[in-house]
Amino acid sequence: MKILVTGGAGYIGVHTILALVNEGYIPIVVDNLSNSSIEGIRRIEKLKNTTIKTYICDIRDAEYLSQIFSENDIQGVIHLAGLKAVGESCSDPISYYDNNVSGTLVLLKTMEKLGVANLIFSSSATVYGNPKTLPIKEDAKLFPTNPYGQSKLMIEKICQDLANKTKLASKNAWKIALLRYFNPIGADKSGVVGEDPKGTPNNVMPYIAQVASGKLERLSIFGNDYPTKDGTGIRDYIHVMDLAEGHVAALRWVLSIKPLISECRAINLGTGSGTSVLELLSIFEKETGVKVPYVYSLRRSGDIASCFADPSLAHSLLGWKASRNMAQMVSDTWRWQEQNPSGYGE
Ligand code: NAD
Ligand code: UD1
Repeated sequence: MKILVTGGAGYIGVHTILALVNEGYIPIVVDNLSNSSIEGIRRIEKLKNTTIKTYICDIRDAEYLSQIFSENDIQGVIHLAGLKAVGESCSDPISYYDNNVSGTLVLLKTMEKLGVANLIFSSSATVYGNPKTLPIKEDAKLFPTNPYGQSKLMIEKICQDLANKTKLASKNAWKIALLRYFNPIGADKSGVVGEDPKGTPNNVMPYIAQVASGKLERLSIFGNDYPTKDGTGIRDYIHVMDLAEGHVAALRWVLSIKPLISECRAINLGTGSGTSVLELLSIFEKETGVKVPYVYSLRRSGDIASCFADPSLAHSLLGWKASRNMAQMVSDTWRWQEQNPSGYGE
């Protein structure tokens, strides 16, 4: 079964491709390579001894996208393509709304035109903003605090409207899973693919890995005065392969829904437990034996104290549960970092 993966060359994309191949699906990649390289896909081809059809295409290119759907018998779409840097979204909101929202509209129009109605969308825990209660359930208030988060919420609403529209339709009823990711980290255990951020990493895990490898001098911990157990921020880190397998579980769910029934469900993908920055550092040092120098600095603007999921809906609806622990997350990150000090090396 052929599944189109937009943004398939990116960090979550390559791991999702691996999970799809592991489960016997045929992924077809669409990516404009604006934040990735083709090398990750090439490495999976080598690892799995297979060929992955890849189109260098911007999802806003309606004509090319239609051609790709027409050339392949696509049964479903995993839509990961988008821009994701919170700070950049504040300084350049138009690019974020254009790429994320307009790009998704082009994709949805193409799908509707060609009768493909199975969609998995990569949303984010950022749609919850600063949560009132923890753990966060899917019906919590949605209050994104930056243009990136707003763009994710807008797309969720568009998807919901589409599913509502087809509730009474006779064919092509939309079936959509809106996956709200918490904090994906780690890499496939092969060490051949991983997170390869352009420039200095924004996120804590790749930053720690680059300090440990000597590329960066020290970690700045953004705030040690949060109302948490040790004063540093708490997040729900999830192994990227668990997240990738969550996409396959969501795909199976979507494909199992009867043709005339439409569905659009928001589903948290997290582990349900929170880890502070200091705890993350200490697990990293224990697992790798490498010391990571750090200093405390001011809180990062827009950051929240604590955020972790209630992942029970994913379990009951999709039969999926994260299975890899923090030790695996950090040791797989470190294997990738050690084997690929310059990432994909381009
Ligand atoms: P990434 O930047 O590594 O991957 C995104 C991919 O999309 C890149 O390969 C990029 O080249 C491609 N792309 C961007 N705009 C495109 C366009 N217009 N047309 C075609 N391709 C385009 O990011 P990622 O971490 O793999 O994230 C994947 C998705 O998951 C994103 O939508 C992101 O917002 C979402 N997400 C990520 C995280 C995270 O922590 N990584 C958390 C929550 C949600
Ligand atoms: C960030 C984004 C979020 C996005 C997520 C995954 C912001 C405000 N939020 O989330 O929208 O979905 O990435 O891409 O950017 N930290 C440090 N030092 C660092 C980096 C981070 O102390 O150099 C701390 C942060 O303050 C936080 C924790 O580490 O407490 C995790 O940070 P990060 O990895 O950036 O993820 P989020 O802030 O959860």
